[in-house]
Amino acid sequence: MQAMSTLPVPAIRVAHASKSFNRRAKALDGVSASIRAGECVGLLGASGSGKSTLLRSICGLERLDGKSSSVELFGQTLQSGGVLSPEIRALRRQTGIIFQQFNLVGRMNVLSNVLTGLLPHMPLWRALTGRFSAQEQLQALQALESVGLADYAFQRASTLSGGQQQRAAVARALLQGARILLADEPVSSLDPETARRVMDLLHHLNRTQGMTLVVSLHNVAMARRYCDRIIALRAGELVFDGSPMELDDSRLRHLYGASTEELLMDHNPLETPPQSHALHAMPLAA
Ligand SMILES: Nc1ncnc2c1ncn2[C@@H]1O[C@H](COP(=O)(O)OP(=O)(O)O)[C@@H](O)[C@H]1O
Ligand SMILES: [Mg+2]
Repeated sequence: MQAMSTLPVPAIRVAHASKSFNRRAKALDGVSASIRAGECVGLLGASGSGKSTLLRSICGLERLDGKSSSVELFGQTLQSGGVLSPEIRALRRQTGIIFQQFNLVGRMNVLSNVLTGLLPHMPLWRALTGRFSAQEQLQALQALESVGLADYAFQRASTLSGGQQQRAAVARALLQGARILLADEPVSSLDPETARRVMDLLHHLNRTQGMTLVVSLHNVAMARRYCDRIIALRAGELVFDGSPMELDDSRLRHLYGASTEELLMDHNPLETPPQSHALHAMPLAA
């Protein structure tokens, strides 16, 4: 037992994660996994396999079913037995989440969007007045600089390309001080070249800043290229957890049968949605 205490605390520990939205099928079915700080994990699965539900559960946007379910971040319980921790607000600050649909507020400029990363840290009155100190604005500019967007700080977010919006979302997570970045199909709406650049940025943050990264993808080539480890879901169940090397095409076919083609597809034919549709108001202070 002594040896146990010397093991590093995992950045993310998910135990017995199950979730049903209706009686017919389980979105998640008994998923358990432990992710070390600084790991770069690809969450792979065909559409509907439970990737988003798992990521949303990890940041407390979804409550799991069942008494034995739990999510811990750096050893602190985020949810357990379907009950969110009273410390949920503080815990959520540790995780930044990036969505497929670029969640920026289109009518606000890029800098202001990045600054919203600070809102969960603020007392309500300050969040409501929306005034940020010079120091905070400088930090936001530095975050934008680090994702290569300093020149766009004062442009409306709606004028940015999809790839640029994803990079701005990354800057927001950086300013928030997130130690874990959850990215839910962040490149599915992007053309291949832009997708690669966004993945390069995520990978760079993982390598240089030790950011723990969990990125859901439905393209196995992308997961193999960027991730140290792949966790694969099928119909809510964890069916593979190992190195990208081990998940070769025949293994993939064995796991996914007819759905394999979706995962092997080189590029998602999803056309980029029109910008105005891609912009959703971001839920404040989740
Ligand atoms: N809010 C919801 N209400 C009802 N069903 C949902 C909801 N969210 C997800 N589901 C269902 O749960 C399953 C897993 O969905 P999801 O986690 O979005 O998968 P993925 O992200 O891998 O495409 C799907 O069958 C989906 O229809
Ligand atoms: Mg999804």
